[in-house]
Amino acid sequence: MEYAVKLLPLQKKVQMSTSISSPSNIRTDPGSIERGKDESSIESNRSTLTFTAIDLHNFLRARRSIRRFTTDPVPDSVIKNILATAMFAPSAHNRQPWRFVVITTPAVKESLANAMAVDFERDLTRDGLSTEKIQAQVKRSRDRITSAPVAILLCLDMSEMDSYPDEKRRQAERTMAIQSVAAAGLQLLLAAHAEGLGGVWACWPLFARETIQKTLELRDSWEPQGMFFLGYPEIIPEVRDKKRLEDIAIFM
Ligand SMILES: Cc1cc2nc3c(=O)[nH]c(=O)nc-3n(C[C@H](O)[C@H](O)[C@H](O)COP(=O)(O)O)c2cc1C
Repeated sequence: MEYAVKLLPLQKKVQMSTSISSPSNIRTDPGSIERGKDESSIESNRSTLTFTAIDLHNFLRARRSIRRFTTDPVPDSVIKNILATAMFAPSAHNRQPWRFVVITTPAVKESLANAMAVDFERDLTRDGLSTEKIQAQVKRSRDRITSAPVAILLCLDMSEMDSYPDEKRRQAERTMAIQSVAAAGLQLLLAAHAEGLGGVWACWPLFARETIQKTLELRDSWEPQGMFFLGYPEIIPEVRDKKRLEDIAIFM
């Protein structure tokens, strides 16, 4: 099914027209999505959709970090559409330094969870936590990986970014690459939200980079930055406290 989306100024209606097309051929040309007939998209059974800018604001504000999922599998075509949308994030010099590793195979999740548990347990032991607390935290992190229908590892690849002789510009270049990867991460979460999926961003890969690279046999240039757990939500939590706009923004 193809959605043609055109954005119009605030409050004007946006028309989305749909037509059936092959599920195996994900196109990434701007503004169009190809979908499989078997997908469980929240909108896939409608022939014409309309939304306003207010609807979009509400959609963006309705995203929550979802940490508990049903056991329903997520179709591959839905995962591919989510990644194809994530790839439309802005990136410094348009170098698109994001890389994704999609993990749905239980044995792979299990071996990753086991390997990361070793690192996590070692770090918590160094922190001086009680054995009981360590075991509880390690179990919770293992369960997160093994129980999510989909885990997506988000990596940074610096190999196509600019290189500089001085440290100051090297750091700036690395920062802009990380910012670009984070933009793709948010876009991934929002695309999942659009599909009726829940998701949460986990920062643990930052603490176990080498272990993850080794376990998943990733090339050295793919640096793990974060992991996304996705699935159909079991419960949708209340909105978390948000700071007040006047406390975090100044207008000049
Ligand atoms: C960079 C980043 C790292 C995060 N790491 C974790 C994490 O390790 N575990 C977790 O449960 N949530 C994690 N979160 C999710 C935040 O806890 C969540 O976004 C925040 O509490 C606000 O809730 P909301 O997303 O429902 O608005 C992370 C979010 C970001 C952006």
